[in-house]
Amino acid sequence: MASKEEVFAGGKDIINQLAVIIRTAAIHDPGNIAVATAVDKFVGLMNPLIASQGELVLELGGEFFYINETRIRYSMEYLPNFDFIIREFRKRGLGSIVFRSALNAADMQAFLKAFIASIFSESPFEVLAEEMAGIDSLSVGKLRKVRDEKAAAGGGEDIRKAVKKSYFNAVSYTRGVINKIKSGEKVSIKKAKRVVESMVDLILEEEQLLLGMTAIKDYDEYTYHHSVNVSILCVALGQRIGLNKKALTELGLVALFHDIGKIEIPSEILNKATSFTDDEWNIMKKHPFWGVRAILRLRGLDATSISAAIVAFEHHMQYDLSGYPKTRNPLDLDFYSKIISLADQYDGMTSSRVYSRIPMPPDRALSLMMERAGTQLDPILFKFFINMIGVFPVGTLVMLDSKELGLVYQSDAMFLDRPKVLVIINSKGEKVDGYIVDLTEKDAGGKFVRTIVKTMDPNKYKINLAEYLL
Ligand SMILES: [Fe+2]
Ligand SMILES: [Fe+2]
Repeated sequence: MASKEEVFAGGKDIINQLAVIIRTAAIHDPGNIAVATAVDKFVGLMNPLIASQGELVLELGGEFFYINETRIRYSMEYLPNFDFIIREFRKRGLGSIVFRSALNAADMQAFLKAFIASIFSESPFEVLAEEMAGIDSLSVGKLRKVRDEKAAAGGGEDIRKAVKKSYFNAVSYTRGVINKIKSGEKVSIKKAKRVVESMVDLILEEEQLLLGMTAIKDYDEYTYHHSVNVSILCVALGQRIGLNKKALTELGLVALFHDIGKIEIPSEILNKATSFTDDEWNIMKKHPFWGVRAILRLRGLDATSISAAIVAFEHHMQYDLSGYPKTRNPLDLDFYSKIISLADQYDGMTSSRVYSRIPMPPDRALSLMMERAGTQLDPILFKFFINMIGVFPVGTLVMLDSKELGLVYQSDAMFLDRPKVLVIINSKGEKVDGYIVDLTEKDAGGKFVRTIVKTMDPNKYKINLAEYLL
């Protein structure tokens, strides 16, 4: 009998092959040889496992697939296929496939046909389930919405509070550390571990809520919020590419310290309202070096601090090494550096360092980053990043077809273009206290009640996001 570990090891091949057959079937006619070959390979992978396990449940939970409740580890080469299949499952509201007995190619073909056709329906899951009812060897289960279940149980508000607490705890911790280092006190990086661990736990449970907190920017406390935001964005991205908890904590920690070298930049420069002179830029560009120095001075140097020093040095170098500092010989950027530079650029563009500078709306920042993907930014990591942030990131000001104006409040994992929106200007153009509408809501006739028409620039309306999100 195959052990759990063996299922675990082969699990990624199964998920990958499922993605392959769905992709192939989507572009070829039924009965095509490429489809048939891919299906045969899938059946060949599945049957020994079904035979040994009796029944095989392949389930999507959050960002991960589980086979008989064992989480499937991703591997780098399969990432695009994993990402693809997670999205395809979500689009249909499909949560699981149960393989009850030995699989044959005909049953799998029937599943494929129903799976592909279901997307054209208003209620894809129901259509798929109905089609599969006549097939003995497999059945399908609905995607569970974890957060809704918790909210229904009355836990929604408590979770929001816990998330807020963890976020502001991290901000005040960061403020403390930075001030201590500035005043020459010895600081240990180990204490930061607890702070980051609490964020990692929350991201694994409530990714969207904590990600939503990163929409909070505060120009008075820019550096602290920026450090925490970058750390959250990195951990969330790390989770999506399958890093384990230990690596996530390390990544979160390292990210928290990426700009620590800025403590040496005179505050007249750091807080300057107008653009920098060349000399001032040259000073700004030294913060990666100063970061390395500050980190190496920390108490209790360990592997994580070394990693933090590397990232502090590399976080502005860019994927194509076109940034700074320049090194004599080209180097391979650290994996964490590539992740952090994405999060850093996004938060940097969407925040305001000083009062007078207008931050960029999130959707504009993402399209600018899209132009940089492949040159200044790692293209694969960017793909995951944009999927994570969503089509309409939290904090985006949107106009609805109801003529209401609102802020994206929480994204919906299944319908990326149908988030929850906090309406702040009603259809008559009056400013209102703020009420939340769910864009997945449909009327009696099965039509969506509200749909996003376009995104707007919040600065034109002088809207302070934090006021609404807290
Ligand atoms: Fe920096
Ligand atoms: Fe930064």
